[in-house]
Amino acid sequence: MTPLLQVKDVSKNFGGFMALDGVSVDIAQGERFGLIGPNGSGKTTLINCVSGVLANDSGSIRFDGREISGLPAYQRTRRGIARSFQIPRPFASMSVLENLLVPLEYAGTGKLDEAHEILKQMGLADKAATQSNRLSQVELRKLELARAMAARPRLLISDEAMAGLSSNEISEVLEILFKLNAAGITIVMIEHIMQAVMKFSQRVICLDAGRIICEGTPAAIVAHPEVQRAYLGA
Ligand SMILES: Nc1ncnc2c1ncn2[C@@H]1O[C@H](COP(=O)(O)OP(=O)(O)OP(=O)(O)O)[C@@H](O)[C@H]1O
Ligand SMILES: [Mg+2]
Repeated sequence: MTPLLQVKDVSKNFGGFMALDGVSVDIAQGERFGLIGPNGSGKTTLINCVSGVLANDSGSIRFDGREISGLPAYQRTRRGIARSFQIPRPFASMSVLENLLVPLEYAGTGKLDEAHEILKQMGLADKAATQSNRLSQVELRKLELARAMAARPRLLISDEAMAGLSSNEISEVLEILFKLNAAGITIVMIEHIMQAVMKFSQRVICLDAGRIICEGTPAAIVAHPEVQRAYLGA
């Protein structure tokens, strides 16, 4: 089967600084995939190139077999790529429900029932009427994922949805992502919280200075000497 996402030899530089240097990775339909690496290693840049926030300088990005690297972000969203942002920025003066209706309209679906269904999936049903600037940290992360889900993605990329959360809250977010995956959504998890990303992922890659330094099962990755050196400070 053709991989859902095929990244081939993708590079991105910022004024001569190589944030991504020839990154290649395939992600299978239905996979739970972990992306780790130290601060500044290029994780967000990679998903910015995949989601269309940034244009890659070279290389190819295929989704569902078709080249997407020239497409604007909204067209990639329509094809089924959604991502949450590392720093959630909901419309502060709007309610949780209204925040969800904005991307739903954008996706051309605009259905109130669907918004309520997504809020239920995220465990935010009882917060629908709450103004988003009154949400707790974990509720904000859930809203950020809910907004991504409003595009009805086939691929959901979660950029550090768990940073700063308590271990109970991390479990809640993990459970949500497991459920979405069980419903057929391919998930890429960017995460610094090792226990979470290793529990979640079937396969992990580690980036360091814009290059993939290793790829494998969670068990193989944590044991990898280069990962320990680059990432775990061993
Ligand atoms: N728009 C930009 N302009 C210039 N430099 C950038 C830009 N975006 C990222 N960078 C630089 O590219 C490198 C990779 O950044 P990136 O945000 O992809 O790292 P990251 O792996 O997501 O890190 P973190 O774990 O801290 O989120 C960093 O050195 C960063 O400063
Ligand atoms: Mg990042």
